[in-house]
Amino acid sequence: MSDSAKPQTRYLKDYAPPPYAVSAIQLRFELFEESARVTSTLEMQRQHRQDEAGQTPLMLDGHDMTLHSVTLDGQKLDTDAYIVEPERLVIANPPERFTLEIVTSSKPQDNASLEGLYRSGDMFCTQCEAEGFRKITYYPDRPDVMAPYTVTIEADKARYPTLLSNGNRIDGGDLPDGRRFAVWQDPFPKPSYLFALVAGNLGCLRDAFITQSGRRVALELYAREQDVAQCHHAMAALKKSMRWDEERFGREYDLDVYMIVAVGDFNMGAMENKGLNIFNTKYVLANPDTATDSEYEGIDSVIAHEYFHNWSGNRVTCRDWFQLSLKEGLTVFRDQEFSSDIVSGPVQRINDVRVLRSHQFPEDAGPTAHPVQPDSYIEINNFYTNTVYNKGAEVVRMLQTLLGRDGFRKGLDLYFERHDGQAVTVEEFISAMEAANGRALTQFRLWYVQAGTPQVRAALSHDAASQRLTLTLRQSCPATPGQSFKQPFHIPIATALLDQQGQAIPLRLVGESNAAPAPTERVLELRATEESFHFDGVAQMPTPSLLRGFSAPVKLDAQLDNAQLAFLWAHDSDPFNRWESGQEYATRVMLGLVAARARGDSLNLDENFVDAFRACLQDDALDPALRALALTLPSEGHLMERMTLADPQAAHAIRSFVRAQLSVRLEAELLTAYHAFRVAGAYRYAPLDAGRRALRNLCLDLLLAGQDSAAETLALNHYHNADNMTDRLAAITPIIHGGLPHSDKLIADFYIHCASSANALDKWFSIQASAPLPDALPRVRALMTHQDFSLRNPNKVRAVIGAFCGGNPVRFHDASGAGYAFLAEQVLALDAANPQAAARMVALMSRWRRFRRDLAELMQKQLQRILTQDKLSNDVYEIVSKSLN
Ligand code: ARG
Ligand code: ZN
Repeated sequence: MSDSAKPQTRYLKDYAPPPYAVSAIQLRFELFEESARVTSTLEMQRQHRQDEAGQTPLMLDGHDMTLHSVTLDGQKLDTDAYIVEPERLVIANPPERFTLEIVTSSKPQDNASLEGLYRSGDMFCTQCEAEGFRKITYYPDRPDVMAPYTVTIEADKARYPTLLSNGNRIDGGDLPDGRRFAVWQDPFPKPSYLFALVAGNLGCLRDAFITQSGRRVALELYAREQDVAQCHHAMAALKKSMRWDEERFGREYDLDVYMIVAVGDFNMGAMENKGLNIFNTKYVLANPDTATDSEYEGIDSVIAHEYFHNWSGNRVTCRDWFQLSLKEGLTVFRDQEFSSDIVSGPVQRINDVRVLRSHQFPEDAGPTAHPVQPDSYIEINNFYTNTVYNKGAEVVRMLQTLLGRDGFRKGLDLYFERHDGQAVTVEEFISAMEAANGRALTQFRLWYVQAGTPQVRAALSHDAASQRLTLTLRQSCPATPGQSFKQPFHIPIATALLDQQGQAIPLRLVGESNAAPAPTERVLELRATEESFHFDGVAQMPTPSLLRGFSAPVKLDAQLDNAQLAFLWAHDSDPFNRWESGQEYATRVMLGLVAARARGDSLNLDENFVDAFRACLQDDALDPALRALALTLPSEGHLMERMTLADPQAAHAIRSFVRAQLSVRLEAELLTAYHAFRVAGAYRYAPLDAGRRALRNLCLDLLLAGQDSAAETLALNHYHNADNMTDRLAAITPIIHGGLPHSDKLIADFYIHCASSANALDKWFSIQASAPLPDALPRVRALMTHQDFSLRNPNKVRAVIGAFCGGNPVRFHDASGAGYAFLAEQVLALDAANPQAAARMVALMSRWRRFRRDLAELMQKQLQRILTQDKLSNDVYEIVSKSLN
């Protein structure tokens, strides 16, 4: 890319309030097959004088449109009265108050970016966050410009009987020429990113909800007619979410209707547009034949997430996009708490931490690392990251841990009370927490502005004579791009000390009175680089159980040996730490084997580990869902993170070796558990049943890791007896991934089960793309020529390219470099149509420096090749250039 074409960086420090406010906007959409014509009427007022000449130019964002006319206070402007630039429309010096009418048109059918107004199948839909509204009309497309919207939609009556926008429908009817119109009004002033429109021929599932104050809200879930039967789980999730937000946070819904539309082509999970959420079908549609247990859970959590945004995001929104985590971190925290209440607290916590560790920790340690509140970006779409979302949620969770549930609730109430109807910053959120709790959170703010994952090292010393135990905690944080030195963080460390029976002992800090019984778990607050905490009355050296429930997003080194880890795996009263200890134990055993393999030693799986694994498998006091998690070996990705230089082949070889060993050495126990955890009756999604299925299917998977034919027969029966997607997938994955004899036949048979559902087909594609077999890449290329594949559909791109490049490390990182060349080729093909999708894919190579030298060089070459292309999007340019820095 030439220097002059290099995209610009935007900085938080350059923020300036908008020079013009919009007090009302009226939009008229005339939708046709070849084009969409948009008439926008804005009531605008100047906010202040800006430049030295005393002029305040009006600059409206906009691109990829045809401009037909600009009319100011009823006067059509000559083309020399304004300037049209590639990304904006400028009117030099408009009056203090004025009405501006702008007529533009675009071609939604050609809009493959899935941003702005586009077509998905037979319908029109929109995606405006973050900056898609500027593809619909010229507008101050920034979240601190809020206005009430009135929207008129006109379209062909037969093709598009359903015409939707935000708020309440206030008018509608027939027009000449077989056309029809509807008028929508949203009384709540909103930023442009929350605007939405849908036109299509859609079926609808209807229900209602009575709010805590007794108002009736109509609930409408729209999908293609043939998919409406798959909307019931989503509808139930919506009602649960609405009730939960009232009960837990006192938040009530505010419009008379809440609509959700399922759309097949969508870049992300879903979008919280005011009163009119637009969802990826993956997070709406489900029936037992198309969706797995974890997809049912995913629907619950995404429906809740978007609903919760109505307060954390819509009623109180972001001043600018550097504040994205203000709404996303908070809303992820809220949806995690919701899921934790409806599934199981510990299971949810473990799954959330798994996501954080497998995606956010690597991001925080790589070339695109950024703070929860970034201070610069080139393309905001690249900042819908695990850091902004998931680490952001951890930061909010730490506030709840430090302030207590009640204190946190008070702070949140105050935040909503103070800022309802405003566009604010992270600072306002923290200030409200401080004010409501009478507590300063000065040091805590560093979590928002310093990137990188802090490391905490713990050491215990015990003095038998004085019965005193000292716990010393030391923190550090590695450098990240642009931040070489870090100040110490304020870190809550939930702590217990366990005696030899695994009982948590009372924790009395030195100097505390012993009048009241001491708690057995305390949240220690680490603020300095190093701090020691002294406890009295500790008779013997205990085993520490630290960072319980993962009380802070840090890497903890508690300096435990394998025997202590095995003890905690079996006995820790904190379920999260039980899981954690098992994972750490397994990781160490596997890394030991990686080292042995590198030395050329023969491999031998430690008997103590096998015993501990067996004990966990047979521990009937442990809930099946938790047991399944505790018995899931750390992923290849996790092992690679712990190697000095990641070696995908070694990680794969060792994980396969350990699975095969467990399969052979625990065959009888696995078979017993497999039979014991059968779920009686027809399939229905329920958390307890899902837990049993998870454990049973884990046993099946391990049994097949031994590659014997009896196990394959067991899996075949499992498949043929299955009445649901979860079990079918569990049965065929080890067969297809193991390349077992029945593999091809099953691929063909499974296709028949999937053919009628796009979401089911995604699984048919991804199970093949992620099979770690030698011919993986040619198979992937063949899948991309399949009639059901389309590079234009993000779900399919994820199911094939994403599953191969992100979920098949041993084949993607093939030493020939063919996997990398393939990815580069797909990124360039995607970038021309859908930059957001392209950027997400290319990010899979961003941490090339972490890999074995030969692999790193091959990845670097492909990144350099991408960077030399002429027409790169900002999205891909930013990721690639930062990766090569
Ligand atoms: N606000 C949406 C959510 O979290 C995500 C939309 C992001 N879209 C995008 N193109 N970056 O629910
Ligand atoms: Zn969100």
